[in-house]
Amino acid sequence: MKGIILAGGSATRLYPLTRVINKHLLPIGSVPMVYYPIARLLEAGIQDILIISGPSDMGQFAELLGDGDLVGAKLTYKVQTRPGGTAQALGLAREFVGKEPCVMALGDNFFAEPVRDALAPFLSSQRGAHMVLKRVDDARRYGVAEVSNDGRTITSLEEKPANPKSNLAVTGLYAYDATVFDIIDRTKAARSGEIEITSVNAEYMSRGELRFAEYSGEWIDAGTIDSYHKANRMALERPLPAVLEPLFTPPPRK
Ligand code: TTP
Repeated sequence: MKGIILAGGSATRLYPLTRVINKHLLPIGSVPMVYYPIARLLEAGIQDILIISGPSDMGQFAELLGDGDLVGAKLTYKVQTRPGGTAQALGLAREFVGKEPCVMALGDNFFAEPVRDALAPFLSSQRGAHMVLKRVDDARRYGVAEVSNDGRTITSLEEKPANPKSNLAVTGLYAYDATVFDIIDRTKAARSGEIEITSVNAEYMSRGELRFAEYSGEWIDAGTIDSYHKANRMALERPLPAVLEPLFTPPPRK
């Protein structure tokens, strides 16, 4: 199983914080944001991880994360030349993933607790696509999923609906079988000009192959200034994921 972390994009909603600093290098609690998705994938048993970001920031990611050895990850890097959308970014992982299934995390989604349980059904079946959903108070602010009566599949997806059909928000953690790359090839850009992961998920849904699990922990899309600060507070209130502890060991003296 391969892991992919999207750490590119424009981060305009966090301007001016992100004018010269990539969003995923900003702190969450005591570590740069990108370490959280790395930790959550490692806890789920996924070590082989591709980091995708833009050309101007890639050097900093490599400088910060190196080969990932310090935290027990095996990191690979891939440049997204311009922010062409979340599915366009995932498409760049084709060679890295090969014929294996993969888990993709949007790098700015903060999961306060491990995600292993929410990925477990896919980790065992490795078929179709899988979404992690979170029950929220005001679903109108999110992408919302409606699920079938038998609770097995997702039957509708709506973006910020005025009258949500459920209170299940779509988080930025997804898993796909290897057919995802052919689906991305056939997916047209949305009105925004971007090839969006929502369109890819809709294709799996139309085949009845979009399954899900609910996340029981706290989840925040840290892409706005309010939610970014909320994620910081939450991170500071909790112990650091144990896999990240080696980051705090000073390097040996030369
Ligand atoms: P978004 O938050 O949708 O977009 P953004 O990060 O560009 O921010 P803004 O809307 O404020 O301008 O992106 C979701 C995640 O996906 C985020 O972690 C960045 C990443 N991403 C890429 O890596 N490549 C892309 O082409 C896009 C659009 C997003």
